[in-house]
Amino acid sequence: MRIIRLTTITPHCYKLDTMSELVRFGISLERKLLARFDRLIRETNYPNRSEAFRDLIRENLVKKEWMEGKEVAGAITIVYDHHRRQLVNKLTNMQHDFHELIVSSQHIHLDKDNCFEIIAVKGEPKRIEQLAYKMRATKGVKHGSLTMATTGKELV
Ligand code: NI
Repeated sequence: MRIIRLTTITPHCYKLDTMSELVRFGISLERKLLARFDRLIRETNYPNRSEAFRDLIRENLVKKEWMEGKEVAGAITIVYDHHRRQLVNKLTNMQHDFHELIVSSQHIHLDKDNCFEIIAVKGEPKRIEQLAYKMRATKGVKHGSLTMATTGKELV
């Protein structure tokens, strides 16, 4: 397979500001893979390859934060029918059991029957997952998801 070089390797650095330093480095990869990457970049509106690479790296660092049990942030969303017996009570009790994680929550009445809740959380990944899975698995909850984000403290 033919490997092509993305940029010329110019091992020079320069100060951008007092907080971060930009380093330029070269990457070799298969032409086909690069073509697919460039197409992905265009489709997802990245201004250039560098910004797309940065986000790929950040994404992996955030995954690592979740795996390592560092303090993370996230959002739990659930959709449910509030007419279901005891459901609102159950979901409220769960949130009280995990109150130390919950930063804020928003309840939206989607229509006559359906409620949409967005719960912003911050804390230990395992606890956050416990709460998210518990809510999602509750009978009557039609949809539940967990967005794994970061406190951003260790990212540039
Ligand atoms: Ni509602």
